[in-house]
Amino acid sequence: MSTIILGIESSCDDTGASILIDDKIASNVVSSQIVHKNLGGVVPELASRKHIENIIYVVNQAIDQAQIKKSDLSAIAFTRGPGLMGSLLVGVSFAKSMAAALSIPIIEVNHMEAHILALFIDEPRPSFPFLCLTVSGGHTQIVQVNGPLEMEVLGKTIDDAAGEAFDKAGKYLGLPYPAGPHIDRLAQTGQAKYTFPKPQAGGLNFSFSGLKTAVLYFLQREMKNNNEFISENLADICASLQSTIVDILTEKLVEASAITGIRSVAIAGGVSANSGLRTRLNDMAEKEGWKVYIPKLAYCVDNAAMIAKAGQFKYEKKLFSNFDLTADPRLKIVSP
Ligand code: KG4
Ligand code: ZN
Repeated sequence: MSTIILGIESSCDDTGASILIDDKIASNVVSSQIVHKNLGGVVPELASRKHIENIIYVVNQAIDQAQIKKSDLSAIAFTRGPGLMGSLLVGVSFAKSMAAALSIPIIEVNHMEAHILALFIDEPRPSFPFLCLTVSGGHTQIVQVNGPLEMEVLGKTIDDAAGEAFDKAGKYLGLPYPAGPHIDRLAQTGQAKYTFPKPQAGGLNFSFSGLKTAVLYFLQREMKNNNEFISENLADICASLQSTIVDILTEKLVEASAITGIRSVAIAGGVSANSGLRTRLNDMAEKEGWKVYIPKLAYCVDNAAMIAKAGQFKYEKKLFSNFDLTADPRLKIVSP
């Protein structure tokens, strides 16, 4: 008999549902909330209301597209955290109610672990141990992955996440939220001719808030001399910013590989969709002699397929959750 898992993702502004049948993603539905686009960031109250509007439709779509019935489900996996409390609560409550009605188990999933486990959806899959640079809108971490459920955070940001550096700098440039994909697109036609500082944090930790401020001061200075500076040089500014962020990220990855002796290296999370980072990692494969793993684009940004996949690893070990659990906006990756 097949194991069929419904994955539900609602940690931020995307409502996602996905069906995993044994080892195959049979459907992966995401409804992205465009209401935040011109508001400069995700508005938590709006996000949770949109999740409530979307979730039934998105789950039904995932079930229909997979050509299964609700009664075929073996378990429901959902994002317990980290994320926005109101957004998480919608997914958590929905998963609990639906599982209770169907008398099937629920499986809590850590969103950041799921980003990493997205690497196991398609071939080739990394073998253990490997290092994963997990870069999203809220987190930036270097994780040593010793097994599907055995992860240790070796370094993380002490202030802003890499995605925030893209988004906040993009805001200064007048780009819509989230600015990361726009900067990526614009950078492709620009030259990285401006130099920005690379703030340092101790050990394998990162710091991005100084870069954001440096970009702001740089733009204010240049705009004083030329009011059209941003519009005339947008592609070059984006290329310079992207190249600085990619430098900061990959320099720490090289350090982590040297310290641990691990030469299998992966990226995950929304910023792993960045073409500059993907190209750089492939270049590093040759230069550093690394084996590199990069998820398919649909599995980089927030999606429910990764939640279903993470759920499968726990299902195999019967790691089910109690129905009295609640969302945890600050859920951490806890080393075993
Ligand atoms: O993982 P994710 O979808 O959501 C969180 O868990 O935060 O990551 C969202 C972040 C945003 O900051 C967005 O700007 C960034 O990922 N992002 C990108 C690209 N696509 C998404 N950043 C740079 N280049 C991209 N192509
Ligand atoms: Zn995410």
